[in-house]
Amino acid sequence: MSQKIRAAVFPVAGRGTRFLPATKASPKEMLPIVDKPLIQYAVEEAIDAGATKLVFVTGSSKRAIEDHFDTDPELETALKDAGKDDLLKSIQAIVPDGVACIYIRQGEPLGLGHAVLCARPAVGDEPFFVHLADDLIASDVPCLTQMAAEYERHGGGVIAVETVPPEDTSSYGIVAVDEADNNRIVRIVEKPAPENAPSNLAVVGRYLLPGAIFDKLETTGRGAGGEIQLTDAIADLLDDVAVYAYAFKGERFDCGSKLGYLKATVAHGLEHPDTGDAFRKYLADVIAR
Ligand code: UTP
Repeated sequence: MSQKIRAAVFPVAGRGTRFLPATKASPKEMLPIVDKPLIQYAVEEAIDAGATKLVFVTGSSKRAIEDHFDTDPELETALKDAGKDDLLKSIQAIVPDGVACIYIRQGEPLGLGHAVLCARPAVGDEPFFVHLADDLIASDVPCLTQMAAEYERHGGGVIAVETVPPEDTSSYGIVAVDEADNNRIVRIVEKPAPENAPSNLAVVGRYLLPGAIFDKLETTGRGAGGEIQLTDAIADLLDDVAVYAYAFKGERFDCGSKLGYLKATVAHGLEHPDTGDAFRKYLADVIAR
């Protein structure tokens, strides 16, 4: 049987330039989808998949994330005194008992690969999840839970992928797979131009990686954009460890882009018990105008 995954790494040190000026002083990961910030959806997904150690790799302007996962006795007392028990429960449940939050600062934004490497002292040599909170995935079974089940089947590494239009390959890590071997990845390239892309299977923001990735990250030089790329370290790992592409079941919203964020808000607003009916009616009115 495969090792249980206990640690989840959330790289949240990026500057979120596509969302400026909103992200000038507050983290992209704190943007709300209806009534929860993106990073809370991320944490809930990781906990559902069994993670008990949440490692946040943070940078400047990210204090709000730490505050969000901390207790707030003053607010709790105020909600209790006001008889707002449901709201009180909702804030007390953000981090359940038995789950620890660890914060590590990425001194310089040297790329996603570098951010993941910063988590090494907290993760150790165990397999771990990496979750990019701006890729929000709506699904019946949370995406990391689907990936943990896949890992149970064959061990190794598991990377979530989806098919993208061929002209979009230059925005993603792109994989070539061996379909006869459980979609084992045979090649992975960061942001290839469409004419150089090995396929149009794109990596999205969910990874289950073996601890061996850290040694690869130590030696991976700077790649695309002058950053230390997680994709390049995974490419270095392929000869040593089997890494599988997993086409998750669900709908992904790229909440790092304005359009993706709006789509996520509409989709979740329609599903939310507080807003669903009234919002559906409102949207029908808007479309009829
Ligand atoms: P993105 O490529 O989305 O970059 O990073 P970004 O800075 O967040 O957003 P834009 O493109 O400027 O709008 C992918 C993930 O890697 C993290 C980001 O926080 C995001 O979760 N990241 C990126 C780091 O933690 N550190 C880095 O140095 C770079």
